[in-house]
Formats: sequence, structure tokens, C-alpha cells
Amino acid sequence: MAIAVALFVIVIGSVLFHVFTPWWLTPLASNWGQMDHTLTITVVICGLFFVAINLFVVYVLWRYRHREGQRAAYEPEHRSLERWLIGVTTVGIVALLAPGLVVYADYVRPPSGAMELEVVGQQWQWRFRMPGADGKLGGSDARFVKAGNPLGLDPADAAGQDDVIVTGSEVHVPLNRPIKMILRSHDVLHDFFVPNFRARMNIVPGMVSGFWFTPTVVGRFESMCAQLCGVGHPNMRGAVVVEDPATYAKWLAQQPTFAQMQVPAARGSGVGDGQALAQAKGCLACHSVDGSRSVGPTWKGLMGKTETFEDGTTAVVDEGYLRRFIREPKPIKGFPPVMPKMEISDEELAALVAYIRAQSS
Ligand code: CUA
Repeated sequence: MAIAVALFVIVIGSVLFHVFTPWWLTPLASNWGQMDHTLTITVVICGLFFVAINLFVVYVLWRYRHREGQRAAYEPEHRSLERWLIGVTTVGIVALLAPGLVVYADYVRPPSGAMELEVVGQQWQWRFRMPGADGKLGGSDARFVKAGNPLGLDPADAAGQDDVIVTGSEVHVPLNRPIKMILRSHDVLHDFFVPNFRARMNIVPGMVSGFWFTPTVVGRFESMCAQLCGVGHPNMRGAVVVEDPATYAKWLAQQPTFAQMQVPAARGSGVGDGQALAQAKGCLACHSVDGSRSVGPTWKGLMGKTETFEDGTTAVVDEGYLRRFIREPKPIKGFPPVMPKMEISDEELAALVAYIRAQSS
């Protein structure tokens, strides 16, 4: 009897929790209201089954409770009941799956005329690319990846020269324009996810995946990586800023094109350049500048410290050490050995070192 009462309380509690929970969907900011409908259908169907099955168990526990002199009847087959159960379950499963299939078919088929936006995931940062004035994205290949060409654009492809490159984790998009997302990964499995858009997709290395959406609300919406991709995974956050077309055009005009990025002199070697670089190269995903512990050592007060390596040797951090280490990292004791070799030019290296030095003074 106690179990029957407990189950009854669990059923009532679950329904009340669902009605009053603060953990429900974030406000919708895209065209994908259908995603919410499929979610509601799933919750309603699963909820009905959950309530019905548990209440049935409560009823059976009470109806067939132990009584003196009463024995259980043996009834191994009940054809009509089995048919009913199979029928109801089939209808339930179809109702769970079919709406999702319809929405997904639409979700991966962008309308013609959609604006292209490429997202490239890399441990542990995001980069973006959109077509320039010619409206076409240039070709890309992993073998072209190097300093100044982190997305591996084909330098010989004329269509790629005016492509706009965004090397931070924040990207802007115009309001009410369908956007065709093109997703690539540099290394491992990532997943680009913007909860307010109800849009996400796995990014599989060696594959190009995609989906589309139309932003319908102006604002700044958090984006994140939704596949565990290593120790820096929680740092793979960013934002999609939705703004009216005029503001968007202004922002777009400030972003460098691929051709502009190929001019080495465009970048200085001062502290400010170093900060921008640290941001763009994803260093700050793993190294804090406020002394807090992250994936790698903090840069605050790093200069002059003595680092101990995994192999037991030590070194004092000075400029020479930083220059060598950034190009040829060595596992440091107490930290995961995940620092990638940086593809970085001499000017960039000088700027980075200047920035790290500035965090120690
Ligand atoms: Cu990328 Cu998690």
C-alpha cells in the first residue's frame, strides 16, 4: 500500500513540476516554432503514458493487495488485450517520430536565396565566413590551413578572395533573412547550438553538415558547443547578434576579407594587437588573464614564474621561453597536454608575447 501511495504522489508531483518548472524553453527567436510543437507533442505523449501506466500500477496494487484466503489466477494469454496494447503503442511511437521527421526534412533544406554562413569549429573556438560582394564562398581544403589562413581557403580561388572572415566567437546576422548554415570542423566532433533559434547540428570532421533558420527577433543570443569535445568544451561559447539590415551592413563592412588577411603588414605587434590575437586564436579559451584556473596556466603574473614540465625539468618563463613554447608546446605538470602547436607569424608571436608580458606587470 505504501508503494501505491508513493507512486501516486510521484505522478501528482511530476505533473505539478512540469506545470510550474522554471526550466522550460528560452524565448523563441527564429522561424522554428515547429521545433517547439514537436517537443510539446513528445512531452504530452510521454506524459500521458507516464501518468496512465503509473496510475494503472497504483490501481493494481490496491485492487489485488494481499488478502487472507485469496489466490492469484493464472492467465498466460490474453489475445485481445495484447492487440490493444500493440495498437496503442504503435500509434504512440508513430506520433512521437513522424512530426520530427517532417520538421527535420524542412530544417536541412534551405530556401533558395538564403544567405550563406559558414561556421568552423576547432578546439576550442569558433570561426565564421560569409561570401563577399560576389555572393559566393570560395573553395577550401584542410591542406591550405596555415598562419593567416585558419579556415584553409584556396588561395587560387578568385571567389574566395572577398569572403568575409570572422575570427572571434561572435557573429552578426541580419533580421528576417533566411540563413543557410554550413558547418565544418578542424579536428573533432563539435555541435553548433543556439537555444533561442531552436537550431543545432553536429559538426563532424571530414564532413560538411548544415541547416537553415530565419532570425525573427533583434538581440544577442548565446551560442555554444553541444558535443563534449575535450577539456576546453565549456569554453566554446559565443553569440549570434541579430540586427536590422542597416546595422548589420555596417558591421559587415568592418570585417576583414580573406584577401586583406593575407597582407602581413596589416597587423602590428603591440599589446592591443596581442589581445586581439589571443582572442582570435582562441588562447583565451584556455588561459585566463585574471589569475583564475582554467585549462592552461593563467597569464596573470606568468612572466618570471618557474614552470615544471611533465618530465620533471623546469624553466623560468621569459620572452625566449614564451616564443619557443607557443610554437612548440611541452606538457606542463598539473595541466592536460592539449595545447596545440600554433601556426603563427613572427609579428603575431611578438604581439602575443607583448600581451602576455603586459599581464605580468
Ligand atoms: Cu566543441 Cu564541445
